[in-house]
Amino acid sequence: MTESNARLVFITGASSGIGQAVAARYVKAGWRVALVARRVAEMRQWAIAQGWPADKWSIYEADVRNEAAVAAAAQTCMRTQGLPDVVIANAGISVGVDLSLAEDLSVLRDLMDTNVIGLAATFQPFIAPMKERGHGILVGMASVAAIRGLPGHAGYCGAKAAVVQICEALRGELRGRGIRVVTLVPGYVDTPLTRPNTYPMPFLMKADAFAEKAFHAIEKGQRWRVIPWQMSLVVRVMSWLPRWFFDAVAGSQQHRKKQRRT
Ligand SMILES: NC(=O)c1ccc[n+]([C@@H]2O[C@H](COP(=O)([O-])OP(=O)(O)OC[C@H]3O[C@@H](n4cnc5c(N)ncnc54)[C@H](OP(=O)(O)O)[C@@H]3O)[C@@H](O)[C@H]2O)c1
Repeated sequence: MTESNARLVFITGASSGIGQAVAARYVKAGWRVALVARRVAEMRQWAIAQGWPADKWSIYEADVRNEAAVAAAAQTCMRTQGLPDVVIANAGISVGVDLSLAEDLSVLRDLMDTNVIGLAATFQPFIAPMKERGHGILVGMASVAAIRGLPGHAGYCGAKAAVVQICEALRGELRGRGIRVVTLVPGYVDTPLTRPNTYPMPFLMKADAFAEKAFHAIEKGQRWRVIPWQMSLVVRVMSWLPRWFFDAVAGSQQHRKKQRRT
């Protein structure tokens, strides 16, 4: 891949769903993309099928649970493509957990490693160089699930709540250094992650439509953006509900506890 002056975005979880759609939106806007995931063959095949010019994209293999692998991908990206203008920590998994089962503790660990440690490991290599340069945007992919603890989803809700707080803390730490931190809060987006869901998914949106909104929110450097907007009303109501009321309603949804994916 050749160097170019076009702006550069580094995206984890770019082999599927939201990550792919966001990458495509950036290329459409003339950006170069650094695509990161474990399934590199699929990513390469997909990028080639898009018909993008060769200098628009590069592929990096990394399991975000492995900090050294993410750091290596970040260093190679900075060496070959340059320091990204935007870094999107999007890689994530969603699996239900039943905390009464000993074996589910490893599921919980995997959720935390992928969604939380993976996000921090993705941001880390870029923070010092971005500070030195004096600009950059870090984007954390949270979820509406971060707002309250949903029965059966302690791991996912807990991990995404951590994403929200980490992004907020970073915003304070990086204030005045030219680096913005954007927390994206998706509702339901039609991707391989949500397709197995059997329950209703209000305001479900296509990944391309999500990517369009996300692109503009990131361009504006918005601190917090719920997508779609209808879900921001849901987020407000959920945040306001008193604990006794939330516990009563959530506790009546026990049938979801056994669900393995959301
Ligand atoms: N879809 C929704 O409704 C929704 C709602 C709220 C939040 N989100 C969040 O949005 C993000 C993307 O979700 P999606 O719906 O696009 O899901 P998806 O289609 O299942 O894609 C998940 C992506 O994450 C990558 N990934 C997973 N584990 C990884 C690991 N250990 N190392 C590196 N990459 C890993 C996958 O790549 P490989 O398997 O190739 O590594 C894949 O590219 C996630 O953080 C998810 O929690 C989604």
